[in-house]
Amino acid sequence: MFATWVAEVWDRLDRPKELAIVEFGAGKGSLAKAMLDALRTERPLLYDAARSVLVECSAAMRSHASTKLGEHSERVEIVAALAPEIFETTTVVVSNEFVDALPVHAARVSDSGEVEELYVTADADGGFTGAFDRPSTGRIAEYAERFVPQVRSGRPFAFEVGLDALDWVNGITRAQHVRAVLTVDYGDVAARVAGPQRPEGTLRAMRGRLPVKDVVGSLFEADMTADVNFEVLASTAIANGWVPRELETQANWLCRMGAIERVASAASASIAERLAMKTLLAPGGLGDRLRVLEMSADCPASG
Ligand SMILES: C[S@@+](CC[C@H](N)C(=O)[O-])C[C@H]1O[C@@H](n2cnc3c(N)ncnc32)[C@H](O)[C@@H]1O
Repeated sequence: MFATWVAEVWDRLDRPKELAIVEFGAGKGSLAKAMLDALRTERPLLYDAARSVLVECSAAMRSHASTKLGEHSERVEIVAALAPEIFETTTVVVSNEFVDALPVHAARVSDSGEVEELYVTADADGGFTGAFDRPSTGRIAEYAERFVPQVRSGRPFAFEVGLDALDWVNGITRAQHVRAVLTVDYGDVAARVAGPQRPEGTLRAMRGRLPVKDVVGSLFEADMTADVNFEVLASTAIANGWVPRELETQANWLCRMGAIERVASAASASIAERLAMKTLLAPGGLGDRLRVLEMSADCPASG
């Protein structure tokens, strides 16, 4: 369905001769491979025009991706980082579970109503201790004013400050040749991820698929994540002249893109594929937890 979306954007842009498909946080390259496989069979002209750029900071993941994408290697580039100013051709940006992996500042509104930041100290015994103090940068208070509901309500709560997410979306929506963005992640609108109704915030850590209670104590041992505040992405894009679609669940997005018809009519869909699709579409399933945001540089996004 990502390939279908890319093809829709390419058509809408009058089929430019070259199209860079940049995927941030590409992991092992599974999504890029699925997209290129689909484009090769279903949209060969676009496949010829496409260049797939995988941005992945982990060397191990880059190596997996390089093996996985071997058959498409002529049109694939795998890089550790990408500065938005180097986008040179018409570009679409995609990401799946990337923004929630970006670092956040952990903050809180204290009992006295002040915005404070969590600092971590390395103890002599090798452990870690957290303590709140004045924010390390004025950007934290600015972010809280813009994106954290009820930050001045006087009610105490913890929240996360996604300055890296803000800088990422600002960079790509300011880059001249980037025309559309499709991002899928855990998170929601601002009121559901930050504010007094989420008193503990959303920062969490998992080790071996199990939640870890002491997030600070588990530094360097557990996988940390925080829900994406999609307001940050959408309103930053709007400020740069972009048009976001309304935030939707992944299940809704898949249905809108025609996933059900596609699986139903695919003679080759295996039982496993049909069950996987059911997991994504069933009410209360994974597809209800993930959110999809489509944004377009100059005209309302598809649909
Ligand atoms: C949760 S994984 C998702 C991987 C893949 N997109 C998927 O859906 O399976 C997040 C990925 O983002 C990568 N990542 C995190 N921060 C990054 C950054 N600043 N630049 C590039 N990749 C990053 C991680 O190494 C990891 O592979």
